[in-house]
Amino acid sequence: MKVIAVATQKGGVGKTSTTVNLAAGLSLAGARVLAVDLDPQAQAGTAVGVNLSGEDQLARSLGWIIQARLQGMRMDLSNLWFDRSELLSEFEDAGTLHLLACEESTMTAAQDLIHKKGYQSTPILRRILLDVEDFFDFVIIDTPPAVSSLSATALAAADYVITVSIPEYPALKGAAATRGTVRYVKDRTGGECDPQFLGAVLNRSNPPSRWKSQEVNVRNGLLDNDLAPFITDIRTDNRISDSFAFGVPSVIRYASHGPGKMYGQLMGQIVERIQQPREKWEMPERIESEAPGE
Ligand SMILES: Nc1ncnc2c1ncn2[C@@H]1O[C@H](COP(=O)(O)OP(=O)(O)OP(=O)(O)O)[C@@H](O)[C@H]1O
Ligand SMILES: [Mg+2]
Repeated sequence: MKVIAVATQKGGVGKTSTTVNLAAGLSLAGARVLAVDLDPQAQAGTAVGVNLSGEDQLARSLGWIIQARLQGMRMDLSNLWFDRSELLSEFEDAGTLHLLACEESTMTAAQDLIHKKGYQSTPILRRILLDVEDFFDFVIIDTPPAVSSLSATALAAADYVITVSIPEYPALKGAAATRGTVRYVKDRTGGECDPQFLGAVLNRSNPPSRWKSQEVNVRNGLLDNDLAPFITDIRTDNRISDSFAFGVPSVIRYASHGPGKMYGQLMGQIVERIQQPREKWEMPERIESEAPGE
């Protein structure tokens, strides 16, 4: 089982879109995938058609699961996660897609409890996920924006961390800050957790022929800040955003169109980086010329 956290301090840059499309894309390719929604906004759940409401549903929130575990109770996750594999039913050779869903009030209470118990509770999600390692090939965690005990918990749970930026300076700063945070996880968890930084996805990009100087500078900035951008950018594409409303990730709705192709290439590069030492990672070239779109 490989656990990947998608994280950046900056809000609204595409963490959730990246998480759900990678999770769905890997499951389309045959893997057994668990998507984990750690953001109180619960949008990863929405993106795969799950919205928790009502008392019995709240008991399935990851917020409860974390609170219970912090108080020494071990839950059987197989009763609590949602099986969304029906989304893959039209695809031969697909794997499985499950979701650990979340809901705001329970997740906020979990966040407070983690904060109260101090940094030694940071590995809590890792411990929860290790209980189910035989069930999944990949776990992809969607994280909240900003620095919080929840995002620290996600980084600590991860074997690998991917960050996301859009072609704007504040987003680059948020990605660089997250990359810096990853370096301290091992020390802060007494060696229990040791995530590897895997690279940055440039999301909501334009075609390179239209790039203006901010886009060129952010792309170069990803290289200069040791953020290891992936070769494939994810372009601005309405099909990625409109899929939210249908509860079906764009990589499934548009499997043989732009979204399916872009995320398919990105997935290939992610899997390759997991298998290869860092010296062998393929990366885009620095852009030395003037911005072509100006
Ligand atoms: N490549 C894209 N093309 C078009 N729209 C996109 C793309 N990526 C993300 N979006 C849209 O941008 C908005 C923000 O994306 P998303 O929710 O994935 O960001 P986020 O980083 O998870 O936000 P938050 O910090 O609030 O959790 C959403 O409406 C989403 O549909
Ligand atoms: Mg989000």
